[in-house]
Amino acid sequence: MTEKKFLQVLGGARTATPPIWMMRQAGRYLPEYRELRRQAESFLDFCYTPSMAVEATLQPLRRYDFSAAILFSDILVVPDALGQRVWFEAGTGPKLDPVERSDPLAGLGLDNFHQHLANVYEAVSRLRAKLPGEVALIGFAGAPWTVATYMAEGGSSRDYAAVRGWAYNDPEKFQALIDLLVEATAAYLIRQAEAGAEALQLFDSWAGVLSEAQFRRWSVDPAKRIVEAVKAAHPHIPVIGFPRGAGALYADYVRGTGIDAVSLDVSVPLGWAADHLQSRTVVQGNLDNLLLAAGGEALDEEVGRIIEAFAGGPHVFNLGHGIIPSTPPEHVGRVVDLVTRA
Ligand code: CP3
Repeated sequence: MTEKKFLQVLGGARTATPPIWMMRQAGRYLPEYRELRRQAESFLDFCYTPSMAVEATLQPLRRYDFSAAILFSDILVVPDALGQRVWFEAGTGPKLDPVERSDPLAGLGLDNFHQHLANVYEAVSRLRAKLPGEVALIGFAGAPWTVATYMAEGGSSRDYAAVRGWAYNDPEKFQALIDLLVEATAAYLIRQAEAGAEALQLFDSWAGVLSEAQFRRWSVDPAKRIVEAVKAAHPHIPVIGFPRGAGALYADYVRGTGIDAVSLDVSVPLGWAADHLQSRTVVQGNLDNLLLAAGGEALDEEVGRIIEAFAGGPHVFNLGHGIIPSTPPEHVGRVVDLVTRA
């Protein structure tokens, strides 16, 4: 049996207190991250420099007793490795040369994919060697739908109208892009597992804008195919799915994808999730990242409420979405103390 509490719980075990990690536990809320970030020319250079990615991953572990570390990288390294131009502009977020709707695969392909990502795999293997014995290493990728929104819109979007409209107008061409992403994402996750990742998370951050039929086609089905491919190569590696904003469709996602655990956004009611999701899978979540930033008594109370609601089954304590840059680091420490002492 592993000594890593996070992996025990992903395997369905019950532990005295839940394991804890936080999405975006490495990042701009930490002064030591901001200092490190200044040493890289660009955010992608930062992600592709193993010493920096390793250091950023380890920074939060030096401060807090997290049960898992998540590889420091970004979901947009996948389109970058497929041949799309990706860059990050300070203040405006990611930018990409949008794909051509009439020919979405033009200029994209898997030929150079793993060479392009070799430094990410190198960071994973260094991390696995460096992490303390009780801390698990999580690899990750963006889900095809979420990555496709950036590839089609050329960056972040307010309402995803362009990409959702394209998926309705020309589902076959959009499917071709999703299929390429299914193949690339599965290959990427399998290599992370081979380099030492012990669990994998699939971030479908924009699943919540999809209609029911679109959700099944563009979120559930691709996740299912990725899980199948990963499990064919690594039958025992746990896969966590995060269909953020899926509402009642969370239940379909759990049933339809074969994931081992589901990450809950803040809007998922605790009682409903305990009854309808935790009975079939491991739940992860779902503290409000804005309450984490606000702190105080309301934060303490909510931490207790979440632990209590999920005490009847396997639960990984986490946020409903990533830590925001204005979060005081002490608030993170407070939550880790409350959860590990619960
Ligand atoms: O600690 C961790 O969680 C690991 C690191 C991580 C990052 N991005 C680092 C990052 C992870 C898991 C991601 C995933 C990611 N990236 C998602 C899915 C999760 C989510 O939050 O919904 C998405 C949608 C992206 C795309 C992305 N990357 C955006 C929209 C932005 C800009 C917004 C912002 O916060 O600035 C990024 C940049 C990014 N990725 C930063 C970090 C720490 C900030 C860039 C910087 O430090 O200069």
